[in-house]
Amino acid sequence: MKKTDILVTGGAGYIGSHTLVELHNSGYRPIIVDNLSNTSLENIKGAENIIKNKITFYEFDCTDEDQMNELFELENNIEAVIHFAAFKAVEESVREPKKYYDNNIGSLEVLLKIMKKYDVNNIIFSSSCTVYGSPDILPVSESAPFKKAESPYGETKQLCEKLIDEVDLNSISLRYFNPVGSHDTCLIGDCSADKPNNLVPIICEVAGGKRNTMQIFGNDYKTIDGTCVRDYIHVVDLAKAHLAALNHILDSKKIKTAYNIGVGKGVSVQEVIDFFEKINDLKISYKIGPRRAGDVEEIYSDNTKINNELNWFPVMSFESALKTAWIWEKNK
Ligand SMILES: NC(=O)c1ccc[n+]([C@@H]2O[C@H](COP(=O)([O-])OP(=O)(O)OC[C@H]3O[C@@H](n4cnc5c(N)ncnc54)[C@H](O)[C@@H]3O)[C@@H](O)[C@H]2O)c1
Repeated sequence: MKKTDILVTGGAGYIGSHTLVELHNSGYRPIIVDNLSNTSLENIKGAENIIKNKITFYEFDCTDEDQMNELFELENNIEAVIHFAAFKAVEESVREPKKYYDNNIGSLEVLLKIMKKYDVNNIIFSSSCTVYGSPDILPVSESAPFKKAESPYGETKQLCEKLIDEVDLNSISLRYFNPVGSHDTCLIGDCSADKPNNLVPIICEVAGGKRNTMQIFGNDYKTIDGTCVRDYIHVVDLAKAHLAALNHILDSKKIKTAYNIGVGKGVSVQEVIDFFEKINDLKISYKIGPRRAGDVEEIYSDNTKINNELNWFPVMSFESALKTAWIWEKNK
């Protein structure tokens, strides 16, 4: 039987590579476009190793309209696009906002134009819980308003969702909370070129000796232990949410919606460090520092919409996320 072609922009990245595996295992044919600006070829090799198959890969920048045109000419059976390609470092976006507007919004604009030209009508977009800013009600549901974004990165996600809303395409925006961990094999993972900005990769770097110590930014918040609270979603569960969204969009005549992808429970920074130490039998050196500008005190998801509508539930444990994150770091 002929497989359905799915274009995966940014497919060589952290979440993209995990999604390739799930797509292949469910009978889809993923096609990657990635400029390798924030990842490594090793991630594609790792995914190919897991699925025991080659994956079609185009290496170029998807803000390049001519190359995107050529790709859609060559691959003329694409049924849907999963759009991961973007820059994601929140702090860098504060220092270099233009880089984020150009890449994150620019790549989507080109993609939407080409999809229209080639009559490809289904897009799944990588959004983020940053679209909610600092929410008034917890857990935060999809009906919460977009409050002022805390960073240019968050602003690009808000603008991209609005752009997608305005075009005549089937669309699902997936608002990820905090992705963590790696595939069981630990052959794919986060290959970010820059220093990590996210808590678990930073803890792993301290554990592995790449950093001497780390800082907790503030322990005087109104949370369980004073440190910030987030919702950590295992990357394999997150990849499977893309599959659920893809099956749904291909079955739908008309759809425009967004889903939160989180476990629905908050965990504090201190709790993450304590749990990491316990399950990996390690000591992490850390200091308590001042609050960091732009940090939201507490955010976790209401995930009942995707539970009810797509029958997607997170099943992977936080323990597995922290163990695989640490193995990935050691193998890098
Ligand atoms: N990881 C997170 O914490 C998180 C949270 C919420 C949302 N997201 C979003 O999910 C998506 C994927 O994130 P990730 O963690 O896998 O990041 P990642 O950096 O590992 O993956 C993004 C991939 O896109 C590629 N890329 C970037 N710009 C490109 C361009 N113009 N043309 C071609 N390729 C390009 C990079 O090389 C990289 O492989 C991003 O849109 C990100 O904003 C990530």
